[in-house]
Amino acid sequence: MSKKIAVVVGSLRKGSFSKQIARNLMKLFPSGYEPEFVEIGNLPLYNEDIDTPENVPATYTEFRDQIKAADGVLFVTPEYNRSIPGGLKNALDVGSRPYGQNAWNNKPAAIVSVSPGAISGFGANHVLRQSLVFLNMPALQQPEAYIGNVTKILDDDGNVAEGTVGFLQSIVDAYVDLLDRY
Ligand code: FNR
Repeated sequence: MSKKIAVVVGSLRKGSFSKQIARNLMKLFPSGYEPEFVEIGNLPLYNEDIDTPENVPATYTEFRDQIKAADGVLFVTPEYNRSIPGGLKNALDVGSRPYGQNAWNNKPAAIVSVSPGAISGFGANHVLRQSLVFLNMPALQQPEAYIGNVTKILDDDGNVAEGTVGFLQSIVDAYVDLLDRY
C-alpha cells in the first residue's frame, strides 16, 4: 500500500516560494509515496472555547483527519521574524488537540526552511523542530534542509535550477528512509 505524505506549507500566499519548493520536492518521491498538500489557511485561530463537540469548526475536524490519515508530514516553511509563521503554529496547535488526541503523534517529519535571504530560514527550521519534539514526531536530522537565496534557484515556471535538484533529492531520499523505518 502506498504511503500518504501530508505536505504542510507555512506560507499562505499564492506565489509562495516555499510552495514552489514544496512542488519540486513532491515530484522527487519514488512510486509508492503520495505527497499531497494539506491546507492550513482556513483554520480559525485556535480557541478552546470553540473546540467542543458542539462547536468544533468543520475545518478543524477535516484538518485533523487529513493529518491522522497521513503516514508522514513534510513541512516546507518560510521564516517570519526568526520564527515560524503564525498560521503554521496555529495548524500545529489545532492538530495537537483535543488533549490526548494529538493527530501528529508518531508521524515521521521532514522540515525544509526557505528564504530569499542568506540565513535560509534557520530560525524557523529550529523553532519548528522544538514543537515537533513535544508533538512526538521523529524528525529527519540529516541532511539539514535550509534553502536560502531562493529567488536565485527558481525559474519563472517555479522549477529549481539543475544544480539544486540533487540536493532536494537527497532530502527526499533520506526522508523516505526515515518513513520506511516506521
Ligand atoms: C519575513 N521575511 C523573513 N525572511 C527571513 O529570512 N527571516 C525572517 O525573519 C523574515 N521575517 C519576515 C516576517 C514577515 C511578517 C514577512 C511577511 C516576511 C521575508 C520572507 O522570507 C519572504 O517574504 C518570503 O518570500 C516568504 O515566504 P513565501 O511566502 O515566499 O513562501
